[in-house]
Amino acid sequence: MQSVQLSDEALTPFNDDFTAGPIWPALRDALAAYDGTSVRALDIGGGAGVFADKLLEAFACWQVVLLDNSPFLLSSNTVHPRKTLLQANAEQIAAEPGPVAGQFDVIFLNLVLHHLVTRWHGQSRKLQGRVIAAAASRLKPQGRIVVIEQVCVPHVPRFPAGRLVYEASSSRLLARVAKRMGANTAGVGVLFFNTGELEQIFGDHGFALERKLPFADTLPGYLRKLNLFHIERTILVFRPRA
Ligand SMILES: C[S@@+](CC[C@H](N)C(=O)[O-])C[C@H]1O[C@@H](n2cnc3c(N)ncnc32)[C@H](O)[C@@H]1O
Repeated sequence: MQSVQLSDEALTPFNDDFTAGPIWPALRDALAAYDGTSVRALDIGGGAGVFADKLLEAFACWQVVLLDNSPFLLSSNTVHPRKTLLQANAEQIAAEPGPVAGQFDVIFLNLVLHHLVTRWHGQSRKLQGRVIAAAASRLKPQGRIVVIEQVCVPHVPRFPAGRLVYEASSSRLLARVAKRMGANTAGVGVLFFNTGELEQIFGDHGFALERKLPFADTLPGYLRKLNLFHIERTILVFRPRA
């Protein structure tokens, strides 16, 4: 079971700064304990490296291993003496021997979990869990997993917003319409978590939530009108449960 990959055209908008605005200072603050310490970080789905480059500039003692399965986005990376690029699937992280070696102090899953999709909803959720387990296998005992995700916040109890977005975005029938509305993932899909579900899945993999920082509504206007849910970009910091 491997994730469906987007075309280079669909991946182009990902060469962007997704931690612009208030997110970066909040994240930097959440990582302040690591300032001045020697850190080995793994950026899973790090793409064109905009985020990794910000980390390298902010933290002079960090080494960042950036893993992504898109040769197209990897080729857009700037060269940095403390950055290592790996072309691999997130699903392969735990493999021994595999593309990744050793353990990490901090592992980032920034806006990548919702892109881990197959043609089926249940299988996609399992894949997300497998990647979380794989990341956990590469984390040092005192390490942290930092997740930035777009989390669906339902306005009606138990409204399955994440499922609805997955079905609409992965539908091949609706792909043309969704593309016209600006969805670069049309026909492949994205699988978001509803609020609480990320904590739950990380809890199931032996993690405790250390910090949670939600940011403003990022739902496009046409979906906001439905008034059934909104989306918050959220930073979550997880530590292995003692
Ligand atoms: C929305 S972009 C986020 C990029 C970067 N993390 C950031 O926050 O700026 C999603 C990234 O996940 C990568 N990706 C998607 N599925 C992947 C997989 N199975 N294995 C590795 N990378 C994957 C994409 O190529 C893309 O670079």
